[in-house]
Amino acid sequence: MNAYVGTPTSRVDGRAKVTGAAKYAGEFPADGLLHGFVVEASIPCGRIARLDTSTALQVEGVLDVLTHANRPPLADKDDSWKDEVAPEEGSPFRPLYDDTIKFNGQPIALVVAEDWETAKFAATLVRVEYEQHGFATDLEGERSNAAEKDKPHKPRGDAVAALAGAYVRHEADYVIPTEHHNPMELYATTAVWDSNGKLTIYDKTQGVQNVHKFLCGVFDKKPDDIRVVSPYVGGAFGSGLRPQYQVVLATLGALALKRSIRVVLTRQQMYGLGYRPMTIERVALGAKSDGTLDAVTHEAIAVTSRYEDFARNDTGWAEQLYKSPNSRFAHKLVHLDVSTPCDMRAPGAASGVCALECAMDELAVALKLDPVELRLKCYSDRDQSENLPYTSKQLRECYARGADAFGWSRRNPVPRSMRDGKELVGWGMATGVWEALQMPVAVRIALTSNGHAEVSCAASDIGTGTYTIVAQVAADALGLPIENISVRLADSTLPQAPVEGGSWMAASSAHAVLVAAEEVRKEVLGLAGKIPGSPLAGAELVDTVLTDGSIANASDNSRAVSIADAMRHGGVERIEKEKLNQFGEDKKHARNTHSAVFAEVKVDEELDVIRVTRVVSAVAAGRILNTKTGRSQIMGGVVWGIGMALQEETVMDHRFGRIMNANIAEYHIPVNADVHDIDVIFVDEPDAHINALGIKGLGEIGIVGVPAAIANAVYHATGKRIRRFPITLDKLLD
Ligand code: MOS
Repeated sequence: MNAYVGTPTSRVDGRAKVTGAAKYAGEFPADGLLHGFVVEASIPCGRIARLDTSTALQVEGVLDVLTHANRPPLADKDDSWKDEVAPEEGSPFRPLYDDTIKFNGQPIALVVAEDWETAKFAATLVRVEYEQHGFATDLEGERSNAAEKDKPHKPRGDAVAALAGAYVRHEADYVIPTEHHNPMELYATTAVWDSNGKLTIYDKTQGVQNVHKFLCGVFDKKPDDIRVVSPYVGGAFGSGLRPQYQVVLATLGALALKRSIRVVLTRQQMYGLGYRPMTIERVALGAKSDGTLDAVTHEAIAVTSRYEDFARNDTGWAEQLYKSPNSRFAHKLVHLDVSTPCDMRAPGAASGVCALECAMDELAVALKLDPVELRLKCYSDRDQSENLPYTSKQLRECYARGADAFGWSRRNPVPRSMRDGKELVGWGMATGVWEALQMPVAVRIALTSNGHAEVSCAASDIGTGTYTIVAQVAADALGLPIENISVRLADSTLPQAPVEGGSWMAASSAHAVLVAAEEVRKEVLGLAGKIPGSPLAGAELVDTVLTDGSIANASDNSRAVSIADAMRHGGVERIEKEKLNQFGEDKKHARNTHSAVFAEVKVDEELDVIRVTRVVSAVAAGRILNTKTGRSQIMGGVVWGIGMALQEETVMDHRFGRIMNANIAEYHIPVNADVHDIDVIFVDEPDAHINALGIKGLGEIGIVGVPAAIANAVYHATGKRIRRFPITLDKLLD
C-alpha cells in the first residue's frame, strides 16, 4: 500500500530543474515582449512635488513612463487591495496610486521600453522633486510609542508576584534585527497580453489564486480575464505570500500599452518589499529552587508600517511550551515610516522562540542545571495556553535522540572549558516548535484507461517538494507506479488552494489527494462490479483498494479487476474526480511540531571568528512523507538559523530612513564555507488524530530553535552572552 509514502523519493521535478527546462516567472517568452524598470522613491515620507519624465521619454526604445499621474484606473477601495494574507488592520500599499510617499524604495514610476537595458537607463533620467515630511524608522528610538496589538492575552496566575518571589529570576531583552528573505529567484512577473485582451500572468508567487483574486479586484476584471501561472518558484520563504508590487506594475503596463511586458526587480529593489520585522523580545523567567518554572513573561515589540498592522505570534510559544502556573504575554507594535513587514520562514517563532530559548539557557546557568534537564523539568504534555493535549508530541524523544547523536553527555558545563587547539568549543541546545496547520485544498484526479493519472491543484511548489509528495501520495492511493502520475500545480484555473505557507501544504494537499482518489476508486469499483462474473460483484468500497493497476479486495488481493478492464468494459476512457479535503473540527487537541536542536561552535580565541561546526536537529513532525525532501527542508532551515544567529541583518541609516546594505555582498547570508555537519533525525511520531496519514508539515520547524542553540553554544564557548543578533565577531571583542 505504501510503496512511496515515507520513502526517500527523489524530486519528480528534479530533472527539469537541473537541466533548466523548468521555467520561472521571468523566463516565459512572449511576442513583442516589453520590459519595465521601476523608479523608486529616495525619501521615506512625504509627497512627490514634481515628476519629470520628459528626458526619459526621449530615449529611443522607450514607449512610456507610467506614474500615478497617467496610469490606467486602479481600485479605490481598500477591500479590493486586500489579499488573503493581508493584515486585517490597515490599508494595503497601492503602487503608483497617488503622490504620497510611505517608505523609502517605494515604486513611483515604471519605465517601459523595448528592452531591459534601455528601460534601466531611461529610469535614471526620471527627475523627482519631493516635499519631505518628518519621519521615524528606528524601533529602539520609538520604543516608548509601542502600543499593544489586539486584545491582551489572558494571563495565568500572577506573574509579577511570582517573579518577585522567585528563587532564581532572569529577565532580559533580546533584539532581533530586520532580515530580508533573499530568495535566489528575483521578484518577477511576465504579463502576456493575448489578442482577445485577456492576460496570462506568470508571477513569482506562493499563491496563484491569491494573486488572481487580487488582480481581478485591483483592476476590476472578471475571473476569466486573467489567469495566473507560477509552475516553479526559486525560493520565497514568505516573500511571495502577498502579491508583490511588481505584479501590479506588470499588469498595469500590459493594460496601458496592450502589449506583453516583463517586470523584474533588481536584488537591491527587492529590499523595498516585505521583511522579517525587527523585534525587541523581553523575556522574564522565574524558577523555584527545584528548577521548575514558576513564572514566564514575554513581551514582543515589533516594527510595522504606518499603513498596516503586521503582527505575528512571537509570544504564543512561551505561552504554550513549558509548564508554568504564572504567565503574562503582550505583543506591541511601533508604527514607522517603512514598508509593511511580511512573513519570513517561521514568522513569529523564529524570533520569539530564539529569545525564549536563550532565556531558558541563561536560567539553566543561573540554576546550575543542565539545559536539557531544565527543559525536562518544565516539560508539558498539554498545551499550556489552551490546556489541551497534543494530537502527538514526541519532544521528549527529540531531546533524547538529539542529545545522544550529538554526544551531549560529554559536555563540560563550565564556559570556556572545552577547546580544540586555538579554538574555544561551545555546545548549546534549544527547543523548536511550530504549528501543524491544515487548510482547505481541492485536488482533481484524471485517470485514463492506460493507467496514467494526472493530479492537479492550484497549490504552489515553493521548492519544498509539493510536486513530489503529491505524486507519492497519488501513486499509493491509486496503486500506480509513480512514473504514471503527472502533477500539475500553480495555475489559477486549477482546483482551489490557498497560498503555500505556514507549513500547511503537505498535510492539506496529501489529504485532498486521498479523498479525490477515493472518489476515483468508487467509480472504478462501480465499473468493475458490473463485469459478468466479477470477483468484486457486490463488494463494499471500504473493502477495496487500488493496487498494482487494479482494484482489489483489501484482504484478498487475488480478487481483483484491472483498472484497464474495468474501464474498457464500462466504455469509459477517462475518470475525472475533483474533491475538497475536509478536516473535522477538532477543538480538543493542540497541533504542533517540535524539535530539539544541538549546536557546536568553534570560536577562534584571538580573532573571535565563529564557526558552526556541527548541528544535530531532532524533529518530531508526525509521519514524514518523504525522508529525502524532508531532510532537505530541515537542512535548509538549519542553514537559515546559522544566518539568523551569526550573519543576517538589514541595516538602516535612520538619518535618511534608508537601507544601507540592500545587496547580498553586504547583507550576509551563509555560503557553503559557513555550513558544516548537519545531522537531521526524524523522531517516530505516530499521530492518529491529525489526519489520515498522520502528517504535520516541515517547512518552518527547521529554523526554529537553531539561532538560540547557536547563541547558547557561543556563550558556552566564550562565557559571553550576546543578546543582540546577529552575533558578529565584533560583539565578542572586549
Ligand atoms: Mo512561509 S513564511 O508561511 O512562506
